Amino acid sequence: MRYLVTGKNGQLARSFLRRFESSGTDHAAPDENVADITDPVKIRELMTSYRPDVVINCAAYNLVDRAEEDRDTAFKVNAVGPAILAEAAQACGAYFVHFGSDYVFDGSKETGLYREDDTPNPLSVYGSSKRQGEENALRNNDKSLVLRLSWVFGEGKQNFIVKLIEWSARSGPLKVTCDEFSVPTSTETVVDVTLRAVQRGATGMFHLTNSGYCSRYEWAKLIVKEMGIDKFIRPVTMASFPLPAKRPAFSAMDNRAIGALTGISIPSWEDAVRSFLRGHS
Ligand SMILES: NC(=O)c1ccc[n+]([C@@H]2O[C@H](COP(=O)([O-])OP(=O)(O)OC[C@H]3O[C@@H](n4cnc5c(N)ncnc54)[C@H](OP(=O)(O)O)[C@@H]3O)[C@@H](O)[C@H]2O)c1
Repeated sequence: MRYLVTGKNGQLARSFLRRFESSGTDHAAPDENVADITDPVKIRELMTSYRPDVVINCAAYNLVDRAEEDRDTAFKVNAVGPAILAEAAQACGAYFVHFGSDYVFDGSKETGLYREDDTPNPLSVYGSSKRQGEENALRNNDKSLVLRLSWVFGEGKQNFIVKLIEWSARSGPLKVTCDEFSVPTSTETVVDVTLRAVQRGATGMFHLTNSGYCSRYEWAKLIVKEMGIDKFIRPVTMASFPLPAKRPAFSAMDNRAIGALTGISIPSWEDAVRSFLRGHS
């Protein structure tokens, strides 16, 4: 099986690449100047020269607040890019894997975790661009697998764990929201489950998170405890951090469908965070 990975410098791509390198799996992950997912000519050339069996799209525009004023870039990367990739993959008979987001939901569900058949209603430009991207991916390739993720953490500098550790080293109070809920999700879990789903030929849309859910405040408390950081964290509401993009208050997703399909007992978010911190302390 030959894999092509886009967005090679992102945190999720790095986990896939590490896994492929350690297992000796045939793969390529060209730089953005060769694999700009918004450039249909380059993408077609890449597919015809490399002939992958599976294309894994880890490229994305994830600047949730900046997207409010840079709608064009957000839609180009998050919606047009997946359409181009899915179509080019289809033309060479390749399977297409794309990642969506819990921010396609508005957070108003009151009867449990979000399931795959719940109706999206994004609150932000970022959420709308991700929604269009997942629809484009599914429409343009009949072997598309779309996995919606949330609160992703892995090797990189942009995730909440790394930022929280940095913030804790500063003087002054540390404030974290206690009314914003989702599921911290490890890139290692995403790689495990995605590769098994690909082996099983899964197509369509699934929710892929670690198990359970929490507020950002609970997540922060676990990080400082596990890191032995002596810092008081003040729980605050989202209203006390006015940000350009609206975020869903509760967007935790139900991972049971993908767990059943792959036969993987998906670890809890707490175990996934502990395991990540053990590797990074
Ligand atoms: N991070 C989260 O909390 C989160 C939550 C839910 C869903 N997701 C989804 O999970 C997936 C993986 O996210 P991640 O956290 O690994 O993202 P990430 O770390 O932000 O990586 C995305 C990568 O895509 C690259 N990129 C941007 N535009 C590109 C283009 N036109 N062509 C090729 N590459 C391009 C970026 O490069 P530059 O840095 O140079 O721009 C970056 O290296 C994405 O689909 C994301 O939307 C993430």
